[in-house]
Amino acid sequence: MTSSLLAQKVKIWIYEAGELVQELEKGQLQVSSKSSRSDLVTNVDQEVQRFLVAKIENEFSEDKILAEEDGKSSLADMSGRVWLIDPIDGTINFVFQRENFAIMIGVYEDGIGKLGFIYDVMRGELYWGGAGLGIFCNEKKLESPKNLGAKDGLWSVNAGMYAQNINNIQAIGESSMGVRMIGSAGLEFISMLRGKTIGYISNLCPWDYAPGVVLIKEFGFKASGLDGLALVFDGQQRFIAATAQAYNEVMK
Ligand code: IPD
Ligand code: CA
Ligand code: CA
Repeated sequence: MTSSLLAQKVKIWIYEAGELVQELEKGQLQVSSKSSRSDLVTNVDQEVQRFLVAKIENEFSEDKILAEEDGKSSLADMSGRVWLIDPIDGTINFVFQRENFAIMIGVYEDGIGKLGFIYDVMRGELYWGGAGLGIFCNEKKLESPKNLGAKDGLWSVNAGMYAQNINNIQAIGESSMGVRMIGSAGLEFISMLRGKTIGYISNLCPWDYAPGVVLIKEFGFKASGLDGLALVFDGQQRFIAATAQAYNEVMK
């Protein structure tokens, strides 16, 4: 199946998953915490993941899945075709704001990003695309944003890392036009695609960055560990993505 046909299939699944979220969201949410008080999971996260996993397993039984919830959060390696799923990215926003969250899927082959999908459910905007396909918001093709330098725009940052000044990131914020914090990695990637921010620094798991990295790379952005090393798709990693110019400047 070509990338383009696969993308059309996944788009249908994600729009359906968005309808599922909006249906379930009308009822009582069941919220519980995982590793800490602010690390939440809801019945909606779990049901969306089950829905997407069932679609993939039904059609592509040979493929591997790395997904945030329900014991699917590690893989021995990235060989073959791997689907990375974050059923609700920004669960805290989902619980407290009922917006500013996204459903995300990344499709990788032997560790190379092929397709990315970030669905801002409440705004009805699905950002998707991949290598050679271009990047779209629903059916509208997007233009690549300007390759701005590190001082010439806004940075998205992780609140905790910024407060603790990890890797001296406050200096990046202070010498730029300022910092922003949305609380959903997916929406931070959308901001970069839209040219609203020039970069993003956070502490992310593979399902947080895999979909967005496919998309921003199509527009010439660079992404890596904050140490400059390659993304490892295994556990949490300090992460940076930025326009090529901003990335080169801050990583010097
Ligand atoms: C979280 C969000 C948040 C980021 C965290 C992620 P979740 O995802 O993307 O913006 O700072 O690192 O874990 O847990 O709501 O899917
Ligand atoms: Ca999640
Ligand atoms: Ca997430």
